[in-house]
Amino acid sequence: MTPDDMKKMAAQAALDYVGTGTVIGIGTGSTANHFIDSLAAIKHRIDGTVASSEASAKRLKAHGIPVLELNSVDELSLYIDGADESNRHLHLIKGGGGALTREKIVAAASRKFICIADESKLVDILGTFPLPVEVIPMARSYVARELVKHGGQPVYREGFTTDNGNIILDVHNMQIMEPVRLEEELNNIAGVVTVGIFARRPADVLLLGTRDGVKTLT
Ligand code: 5RP
Repeated sequence: MTPDDMKKMAAQAALDYVGTGTVIGIGTGSTANHFIDSLAAIKHRIDGTVASSEASAKRLKAHGIPVLELNSVDELSLYIDGADESNRHLHLIKGGGGALTREKIVAAASRKFICIADESKLVDILGTFPLPVEVIPMARSYVARELVKHGGQPVYREGFTTDNGNIILDVHNMQIMEPVRLEEELNNIAGVVTVGIFARRPADVLLLGTRDGVKTLT
């Protein structure tokens, strides 16, 4: 069984959480894409979706699934998205696909956050995956120097612009022992738009695709 098969299993399991007549938030990435493809089969059951990226909006629309503006809906019942890493507290690293800011906004606006992932994403300590940080372009060098002071090695993601017109620094060699504290500290650096630690608002449920089936962690 490949990691992609495990992502697909987790994505399909998430369909059980989709309530009739609801508007749901949709994440970004290959696992979220599997969820979008599965959602197409039950699209008549939901009122619509809010997408966390232009790429996901395009895929949803291609399936004929309505995509709404976040500003036009109240609280979302559910947010479904993948992750680059999760610890056992369901604190996450996200942003490998560069959509972290809109992902964090849609997650914040949702009552329940279901994270879907293959088993390789579950780790003891966050930080092996380079931590994505979305930065205002003019602040790139300053923010990079501040990130070095926090013990990381920031690398500019060349040739990439976020949906919000910003750049990404991927921070290597961070051992994230206190995810909530580090999220707050890095968010306070002037010029940082969003840090890819999702700990202040962690996932509520992690559906992990494994060789032995889908495991549910809460
Ligand atoms: C995009 C993300 C994704 O959820 C994360 O990168 C996981 O991607 P994939 O499902 O392709 O493994 O945060 O910004």
